[in-house]
Order: sequence, then structure tokens, then C-alpha cells
Amino acid sequence: MDLDHMTEPQKHPRTTIADLRARKGSAQPLVCLTAYTAPMAKILDAHCDMLLVGDSIGMALYGMENTLGVTPEIIIAHGKAVMRAAKRACVLIDVPYGTYESGPEQAYETASRIMGETGCDGLKIEGGAEMAETVLYLTARNIPVMAHIGLKPQSVVKDGGYKVRGKTPEEAESLMRDALAVQAAGAFGLLIEGTVEPVARAITQAVSIPTIGIGASAACDGQILVTEDMLGLITEHTPKFVRQYADLAGTVDEAVAAYARDVRARVFPDVAHTYGNGAAKKASDAS
Ligand code: KIV
Repeated sequence: MDLDHMTEPQKHPRTTIADLRARKGSAQPLVCLTAYTAPMAKILDAHCDMLLVGDSIGMALYGMENTLGVTPEIIIAHGKAVMRAAKRACVLIDVPYGTYESGPEQAYETASRIMGETGCDGLKIEGGAEMAETVLYLTARNIPVMAHIGLKPQSVVKDGGYKVRGKTPEEAESLMRDALAVQAAGAFGLLIEGTVEPVARAITQAVSIPTIGIGASAACDGQILVTEDMLGLITEHTPKFVRQYADLAGTVDEAVAAYARDVRARVFPDVAHTYGNGAAKKASDAS
């Protein structure tokens, strides 16, 4: 293969599901973030192995109270945007609440629609042992599935909130059963959310597929965060497991305040930002 004559995307082809799987147990953890829009996906793509069009979009972009109101139409529209921008990272999309739980056939209908309309690389489905039959049905029909176990945001109304999992021996055993069941059903990866470190570690050691943790310790094979959380764009509530790498809410606030001051003082737009003023343009070009 003549690498010198390849374009950038050809030199760095999109990370595949097989590439993610091959990183199981690697010394280099998988770097994953959520992405919902093309401009953000373009920035994240250079740094991430996997981008997730997560149903956290409901809270992060749509001001919803939880993920339950996210529809296939929302996730597909944003999935298409992310797919247009991401050239290197593997792109997964969440299967929304209420569109897969009634059985494998309903799940296949939704899953094949999301895969077909967006061209994404795979899907994420919330559920463990109770979803194993569905995971098997989908994976047998060429739909790559990452299963999401531990704290499951689509269950928060039923569970009465966002509670850390695996604290009791019964819960720890149940989580291990979930992990083994979805692995046996063909899941290529496991997202473990809000789970105590010893349980996340034990699961990571027990399965042969990569585990991606969010609030599930450094023992996992990779990490994911909601991008808006780690960039400091969501300020109402910051979970313990989030490290804020920026204060974008503060940066945006300062920028917008400066814009508002300039507009009110009529110092924006100025000559440099105005069309059709020849004399003024020459002056600005010369400066
Ligand atoms: O929807 C989402 O963003 C998620 C996170 C837990 C990664 O599933």
C-alpha cells in the first residue's frame, strides 16, 4: 500500500469495533467521550478512540430532566451530524428508552433504523441479564452492541434516582451475572456506570471484552465522560466522578458579556466587520 499518496482519512481509517475489542487489557486505556454535534465531534475526533451519541443529550442539549424523553428522531439527527464530522473515532449511538425493551424484534427494528440512517459503527443498549436475549438477537443480525450495566440512567425513575451500584454482595453478584450474560450474548463491549471500584475491577478481569467506565474507577479498560460535564458547560450538578478540564460556561459568559457591552456601546460592528464602506476598508486594511 502506498501510504505517501493517501489522503489523511485513508491514512487514519476509522477505528473499528474490532480495534476496540483488540484493546482489551491494553496498557493504554480507551479514550471515549460523548458527542452530539458536528463541530464538537470534529474537535473530539482527534483525541478519542470512541465517540458516543448518548441519550445524555436529553439533559446536555435539550434541557430534559432525564434521558427518558430522547426519541429515535433526536438520536438519529445528532448521530448523522457526528458521523459527518468524525473521521477516526469509532461512533456508537444509544438506543433510546421505550424503543427496544418490549422484545428482540422491536429492538431490531429500532437498531437497524439507527444503524441504517446514520451509518454509525455500533449501538449501546442499557441492560444486563434481562437484555441478553435481545443482545443475542441483534448481534446475530450484524448489529454490534455495547451493553450498559451498573447505574442505568433509563431506569432512574423506577430506581428512585442515580445510586451507586455494587455496594452489597448481592448487587455485586448480580452485576457480575449481567456482565457475563451480555458477553455470552455477543456484546463487543461493556459500559459500566456508577459502580464501586472492586466490582468494576472484578468484572473487567472476568470478561474478555473491553469495559468502559464512567464513575466506575480506573480499573476499566477505558473511560468515558459526558463532554459537557468535563468541559464545565453543565454547572447545575457535577457528579463526584467528573473532573472538569475547563470552565466553558465561565468562558462563554465572559465572551457574551463582552459582546453585549460592545453592541450597547456601538463599538461592534466596527469598520473591520462592515461591508460596503470602501474608504473605511482601506483604512482598516492599511492598519
Ligand atoms: O448517554 C450517555 O451519555 C451515557 C453515558 C453514561 C456515557 O450513556
